[in-house]
Amino acid sequence: MAASIFDKMEEKVALWRSDMAAFVKEHGEHKVSDVTINQVMGGLRGVNGLWCDTSVVPKDQGLIIRGIPMKDLTDLNGVEIFYLLLTGELPTKEEYEEFQIALKIRKFVPHYVWDILKAMPKDSHPMTMLSMAVLSMQKESCFATNYEKGINKTDFWRCTLDDALNIVAKLPSIAAAIYRIRFNKGELIQPDPDMRLAEDFVHMLGIEAPGDEFLSLIKLFLVAHSDHEGGNVSAFTSSVVNSALSDLYYSVSAGFNGLAGPLHGLANQEALKWLLDVMKKFNGTPTKEEIAQEVNETLAAGQVIPGYGHAVLRVVDPRFTAFYNFGKVHFPEDPLFKTVYHIYEVVPDILKKIPKIQNPWPNVDAISGSMLYHYGITEFSYYTVMFALSRSMGLTAQAVMNRAVGTPIVRPKSVTTSWLKSQVIK
Ligand SMILES: CC(C)(COP(=O)(O)OP(=O)(O)OC[C@H]1O[C@@H](n2cnc3c(N)ncnc32)[C@H](O)[C@@H]1OP(=O)(O)O)[C@@H](O)C(=O)NCCC(=O)NCCS
Repeated sequence: MAASIFDKMEEKVALWRSDMAAFVKEHGEHKVSDVTINQVMGGLRGVNGLWCDTSVVPKDQGLIIRGIPMKDLTDLNGVEIFYLLLTGELPTKEEYEEFQIALKIRKFVPHYVWDILKAMPKDSHPMTMLSMAVLSMQKESCFATNYEKGINKTDFWRCTLDDALNIVAKLPSIAAAIYRIRFNKGELIQPDPDMRLAEDFVHMLGIEAPGDEFLSLIKLFLVAHSDHEGGNVSAFTSSVVNSALSDLYYSVSAGFNGLAGPLHGLANQEALKWLLDVMKKFNGTPTKEEIAQEVNETLAAGQVIPGYGHAVLRVVDPRFTAFYNFGKVHFPEDPLFKTVYHIYEVVPDILKKIPKIQNPWPNVDAISGSMLYHYGITEFSYYTVMFALSRSMGLTAQAVMNRAVGTPIVRPKSVTTSWLKSQVIK
C-alpha cells in the first residue's frame, strides 16, 4: 500500500520547514530586489517579493511546474498534476491510485450548493456562480473548524490539505452543474464514483458524443491552467486572503474573483468573442489584411487585443503552443482554428510596433476557447470556469506550502505620493 497523501506530505513538510528555516536564518538579510517608482506605480512588475515553489514562469520559457517544463507534462492528467504541485514529485502508480481514492471520497457536493446555484439570477456570470458555490461551502472547512478548537499552528497544513482535496474533488461537479443550470441543459448529472477527475467532469457536462478527443483536450486544459507561479492576480489574491488564516473556501473564492477579470482569466472568453466578431464581420475566415484592419480598429478604440501580451512572458506562451499542437493534430481544417492561426500571423507584428507593449506574443487565452468551441461548448462566458477548475489545484497547493512553512500574514508597506516625491526631490 502506498503512503497516503497526508503521510507523503508529512515527510515533505518536515523537509521544507527545516530547509527554509535554515536558509532564511543564514541569508535572511540578503537583498534580492530593488524597487523603483515605476514599479510602485506599475503593479510591482518584476519585483522579486513573493515566494512560490509550485511553479515558475521564466520570461523566455513560460510555465515550469516543479522543475518540469509544461511541454513535457502535456500527456498527464489533472490528478497527476495536482499531486506534482502538492508534493513536488510525480506519483508512482500506487501513489496515484491512493491519491485518486482521497479525491474520490470527497467528490460529493452538499445539496445546498445546488439550491444556491439554482436560486441565482438566470443571467449571472458563470464565474460569479462558481465563486458563490465555493464560498457557500465555507462552513465545511476543516481548517476553520479546527482553528476554532485551538489546533496547534504546526498542524495548520493538514487541515489546509484536507480543504484543498475537498475543493479540488468537488469542483468538477460544481463546474459541470454551472454549465447545465446556467445554459439550460436539463437535469444535473450525478458524479460517477469510479470516474477520474477529467472523465467525470466530461460525463457531468453531458455534452453530446464528446469522445476521447474531447477528454484529451480537457486533460490538457487541466494541465495547462493549473498554476502560473505566485504573482498573478488569482494566485496572489488567494494567498493574501489565506495569509490572514482565512480558510481555503474564502481564499479560493477570492482568487476566482480575480480570475474573472478580463485582463486575467476572462481573457479566454474575450478572445473567443473577438474572434467570432471578426469572423462574422468578414463572413468566414478573414484574410490577413482584414484581421490587421480589425486589430487596428480595436487598438484605436482604446481596447486590448485579448489573448496577446503578458505581464511576465516575453515569448509565445508554451500553453498556446500546446493547444496549437493539439488543434493541428485533431482539427487542422476547422475555420475557427485556422483563424486563430491567421491572427497569430498578424497580431505580433502590429503590437511590436507599439513601443509601450512589452510582449506582442499570444498567451494561452488566444487559443483555448477556440478548442472548446470546436467540441460544441459554444457558451464562451463559461470558459473561465474551466480555467478555474484547473487553477484551483495551483491555488490550493500554494496555500498548503504556505501553511507548512508558516509564512506570516502578507502586509507590504504602502507609501504616499508625498513620500515618493520626498525620496527624489530634496
Ligand atoms: C496581460 C496584460 C494585462 C499584461 O499587462 P502589462 O504587464 O501591463 O503589459 P505591458 O507592460 O506590455 O503593457 C503596457 C501597455 O501596453 C498595453 N498592452 C499590453 N498588451 C496589449 C494588448 N494585447 N493589446 C493592446 N494593448 C496592450 C497595456 O494595456 C499598457 O497600456 P497602457 O500603458 O496604456 O495602460 C496585457 O498584455 C493585456 O491586457 N493583454 C490582453 C488581455 C489578456 O490576454 N490577458 C490574459 C493574460 S494571460
